[in-house]
Amino acid sequence: MGLEVRQVGPGFAAEIGGIRLSGALSDAEIEELRQVWMENKVAILHDQHLSDQDLLAFTTRMGPLFVHVCSMFHSPEYPEIMFVSNLKEEGRPLGSLGDGDLGWHTDQCYTPRPCWATLLYGIEIPEDGGNTYFADLAAAYDRMPADLRKAAEGKRVVYSVLAETVSKKSPITAEQRARTPDVTQPLIRTHPYLGRKAIYASPNHYVQMEGMPKEEGDALFRRLAEWIGRDEFVYSHRWRVGDVVFWDNTSVVHRRDAFPPAQRRFLKRTGFQLPEELAVPF
Ligand SMILES: [Fe+2]
Repeated sequence: MGLEVRQVGPGFAAEIGGIRLSGALSDAEIEELRQVWMENKVAILHDQHLSDQDLLAFTTRMGPLFVHVCSMFHSPEYPEIMFVSNLKEEGRPLGSLGDGDLGWHTDQCYTPRPCWATLLYGIEIPEDGGNTYFADLAAAYDRMPADLRKAAEGKRVVYSVLAETVSKKSPITAEQRARTPDVTQPLIRTHPYLGRKAIYASPNHYVQMEGMPKEEGDALFRRLAEWIGRDEFVYSHRWRVGDVVFWDNTSVVHRRDAFPPAQRRFLKRTGFQLPEELAVPF
């Protein structure tokens, strides 16, 4: 198909041109896009014009659709589309996250089979702030100090949806909590297709290190969290209307800036899963 690929982050994150996601894409085109995306971890496509049907059709081509537990922010027509916004409708938030900032995390690591990719489509973008930051955790793994790597190898981490809802200030219901008990995940994760390793750490969802004294485990995780946020691993995405950005949650963490409450931000979010046999992080 001849994708135009231009890396915009330090060794990862690529703008991809020459493709309209609303068009009819062949299997070969989808596979080429998937490969470029996996190698670059974050795909950025500008100037896309997508109906909800287009958005869902494309996401479905990439993998089984993910449905977020926070059903209050689902699109009324399509539960597979979630709104991320500070807008309100009759006083009620239309989407999740409001206008605040959000710390480093990887999506749905508090579930046994986390979302593989998260996709955001920019409809309304504030003038100031609201950037999304990505950190390359394969590079962070490759360049880890030897003692940190030794301490991290083979460890597992307990994560909780409650930690996230506290950070997002958006409480979940008892029924939603019952469906999302705490889980443990490996601290070092192997990419299911590329075979390389990456750190798999989600500071926003962290509860404790499994099987370690609390203080010792917290100190290790804190050191790791500082390591992955170093500038050398980070790309900052400044949003434009029409941007589609999707990222590989096995290989990056992301966070975002706050923005002025008076400015409007409205994004549509979808996600897709790994196939069942590869969905549990290893
Ligand atoms: Fe997220």
